Amino acid sequence: MGILSKKTAFVASILACLIANLEAKAIPKPWLNKNLPEEKRVELLLKEMTLEEKIYQLNQLVKGSDKNENNVNMWYKSQKINPLNGSYLYASQSPEMRNAIQKMAIEQTRLGIPIIFGYDVIHGLKVISPMPLGQGASFNLDLVEQASATAAKESQRMGLDWTFAPMVDIAFDPRWGRIAEGYGEDPYITSRFGEATVYGLQGRNPLKDLPRPDKIGACLKHFVAYGASEGGRDYNFTAVTRNDLFNFYLPPFKAGVDAGAVTLMSAFNDLSGVPTSANYFTETEILRNQWGFDGFIVSDWGSVVQLINQGYAKNRSQAAKLALEAGTDMDMVDKVYIENLEKLVQNNELDVKVIDESVKRILRIKFRLGLFDNPYVKIYPKEERYYAKEDLAIARKLAEESFVLLENNNNTLPLKAKNIKTIALIGPAADDAVTMLGPWRGHAEPNKTPTLKDALEKQFADNIKIIYQKGCDYKKRNLNLDTEKLAEADVTIVCIGENGKPSSENNSRSGIYLEGDQNKLIQEVKKHSKKVVSLLFTARPLELETIKKNSDALMVTWYPGSEGANAIINVLFGKVAPSGKLTATFPRYVGQVPIHYNRRNCARTGGQGNYRDASTKPLYSFGTGKSYTTFKYSNLKLSNNEVSKGEKITATVTVTNTGNIDAKEAVIWYITDPYATITRPRKEVKFFEKKLVKAQESITYSFEIDPIKSFGYYDDNGKLILDKGEIILQVGNQKAKIMCK
Ligand code: GLC
Repeated sequence: MGILSKKTAFVASILACLIANLEAKAIPKPWLNKNLPEEKRVELLLKEMTLEEKIYQLNQLVKGSDKNENNVNMWYKSQKINPLNGSYLYASQSPEMRNAIQKMAIEQTRLGIPIIFGYDVIHGLKVISPMPLGQGASFNLDLVEQASATAAKESQRMGLDWTFAPMVDIAFDPRWGRIAEGYGEDPYITSRFGEATVYGLQGRNPLKDLPRPDKIGACLKHFVAYGASEGGRDYNFTAVTRNDLFNFYLPPFKAGVDAGAVTLMSAFNDLSGVPTSANYFTETEILRNQWGFDGFIVSDWGSVVQLINQGYAKNRSQAAKLALEAGTDMDMVDKVYIENLEKLVQNNELDVKVIDESVKRILRIKFRLGLFDNPYVKIYPKEERYYAKEDLAIARKLAEESFVLLENNNNTLPLKAKNIKTIALIGPAADDAVTMLGPWRGHAEPNKTPTLKDALEKQFADNIKIIYQKGCDYKKRNLNLDTEKLAEADVTIVCIGENGKPSSENNSRSGIYLEGDQNKLIQEVKKHSKKVVSLLFTARPLELETIKKNSDALMVTWYPGSEGANAIINVLFGKVAPSGKLTATFPRYVGQVPIHYNRRNCARTGGQGNYRDASTKPLYSFGTGKSYTTFKYSNLKLSNNEVSKGEKITATVTVTNTGNIDAKEAVIWYITDPYATITRPRKEVKFFEKKLVKAQESITYSFEIDPIKSFGYYDDNGKLILDKGEIILQVGNQKAKIMCK
């Protein structure tokens, strides 16, 4: 373009902005009246909108750049901003840039509709909490709510209005890398933690709290049954019966909707023949018509255009039509809506009313988030924005309570610092900040994250010698260990597992063995060490028989987050007793998968139906987790042995700390329905509560039973059924029968 024409173009663009500006100012905007009801504001705005303006509200593009490997190569600096866009997946750390883009939307478009900025804040933005699978193991809902509130506060300060969390996918298959991002295999536990996360992100009263400058919108994902991916292979087909859909996969989403979550994200999976991103039955019949959800659904990354790969749409235009008509309101990054919807309407292949419905849902949530009233975020001084001390303390407490102690032979733990002169610190995770943080780590800064080596050297600098050797990598076969150095150590701490990358999206594995030479490493360490404490950094169940055999103590530390190293030291040295329990079964070997505690009964008893070549029992069952003390359960009592629909009964149990260390205990209550109109899981969690039990003290835990909630189950149409008959209640080693009349 010649100089003159460049200048002309520049002047023309300035003129266009000025005209848009003047035009924007000229139009009366009654929807900006805060005193009007939300629905009225939506209607007033919708009726002013052109078809083009409506369609752009359904479009989400990406802006910003970050190197989070889940968003690798997300270099969109060159992407021209279109202020008509409804949303940006905002991968920049600049609140200033976010406000500048928002200013273009408010001042340079005809109606000034604010943009909603979203990003993956899965377990923290700068202050990182444990991976959700570890959060679930904490059985501490209050800490998870607090940690989510930290994430919301830091996100808003970075310029975000919305996060794509919590992930509430039930998963029975550790080959699927994204088991890391959920809360395990149980619908009740996943429901409670999804709910707690929504409360932390949005507040407990969305209409009042969402507009607050420290709250952001939640997004329940991935709707629905994505965790059932065939063979544990991500993005693949999921064969899900209606029975399993209603009794396993949907309940956590219903809990999140009831908690006020303002959005959901559809998924990649083909749900028994109808992909979830174009599934009218789930996205409209169930979510809207049955549950009354009034927010919006955003697709997953390209999941609309992927309908073509799945053989459900013949081209982009049909993909757009099918997804929108099913109930997927916003199209994430593949532009398939802005490229096709107008023509579909013009050709009478799509009713504009369908578009209107989706636009209304998106506008409604923008009003609810307060974006029309306060479209800009406050700019805090950089040094005040993140890493508040109280937030780091919450992350540390949550990490401490997430660790699951699997083995502790001869009370190897807690370590007594006064008896230790030298620690051998071994393994690929021992000096690795990325693994502390785990995948989907927001905009965390590894250089600000102490590794276990850093923390040990800092805490014991003067009186304990730390001899560190990496020993091997996670995956490469490159064992290199000076075993002589082990002999002088009083204890060897081995840090192994998976690095912060693999347990995440598109990282499915055919096996769940420890990769590289890690098993060899632990065998070598065992031969030359006095005592071996193994720490497992992972967020998926792994095969642990070799580690178990070669460790005196074995603890799962998950990906423990920004304060993980300090949390590990507090637990290893007894400042805090471990209290985590597994919410995902650890198989003995991958051939047992799927193997989960809440599976149905076998037709045969007495060991028939088991493998003839190996054990059928998992290595570590759901609910496993030791403490530094022991607890005795006794005196299970019921306020009544019979209950009818509409009544409630209370069950109580006494828990005694029989040791000499104060410790927390998560008490998990299960029911078994031995006979019903559909076969039921062999047992199901229906309540849990965690409390501190002081040494030698006994306390009472209670469970108020509402038979509909605790004994009911769904039929194939989603109708809640409550049978009359016997229910078995179990807590610890205590059992009782309840007659449901
Ligand atoms: C990814 C993930 C989803 C994430 C989204 C935006 O593909 O499936 O969980 O929120 O894209 O990054």
